[in-house]
Amino acid sequence: MTQQNFEEVVKIIGDDPKYRHFIDRIKKDFDNSKLKGIPVAMHAYFKKEGEENIGFCILSLSPLKMKQWEKTFKEEGWVGEDFKIDISSFELMYMYIKPGFRRKGKATQIFNKVIKRSKTLGIKSIYAYVSDTNNAALEFYRKSGAKIIHDFSDEAENISAAFMVWKLL
Ligand SMILES: CC(C)(COP(=O)(O)OP(=O)(O)OC[C@H]1O[C@@H](n2cnc3c(N)ncnc32)[C@H](O)[C@@H]1OP(=O)(O)O)[C@@H](O)C(=O)NCCC(=O)NCCS
Repeated sequence: MTQQNFEEVVKIIGDDPKYRHFIDRIKKDFDNSKLKGIPVAMHAYFKKEGEENIGFCILSLSPLKMKQWEKTFKEEGWVGEDFKIDISSFELMYMYIKPGFRRKGKATQIFNKVIKRSKTLGIKSIYAYVSDTNNAALEFYRKSGAKIIHDFSDEAENISAAFMVWKLL
């Protein structure tokens, strides 16, 4: 991911009050990814509509985090003792489509591109953690073939949260 990619992400989110906090989080992750010695690499994909980008998907290659997740999943008993996360798995970090363009298959299109590209790169799995106050993201991820590893959703609190994986084999 380049500085120009980051600026494009900021432009797409614009002044969306609900997702403005993504900008600070993405900036922090992006700054970390540039620090020498931290093995994190971020990749940004965009969805164009006419001349304008209306959405993005950001992934990262983060072996240390994947090792940590593998440990957590086992400690919590969500997976068996022989469970392994391949260190060259991607993490799906952020997915965003501008409000006026949602429910038109745009996220599906960008995610299909991500899967195709990941397969070309030899990536076997994509892991994600989602937590939000609506179920759009979780429903989208379910529909796109994610297998839920652990669901923390709390209907009474209107919270959707889960760890999940897409197997790309
Ligand atoms: C989640 C998000 C990326 C989905 O984008 P989208 O372009 O609207 O998704 P699609 O049109 O490709 O939806 C595909 C399917 O996902 C499910 N889905 C998407 N949005 C949904 C919603 N709000 N409620 C329920 N299901 C939903 C549906 O099954 C949908 O198929 P359908 O429209 O035929 O019923 C978008 O709502 C968004 O940007 N949300 C804010 C940011 C966010 O939550 N990001 C994810 C966490 S990082």
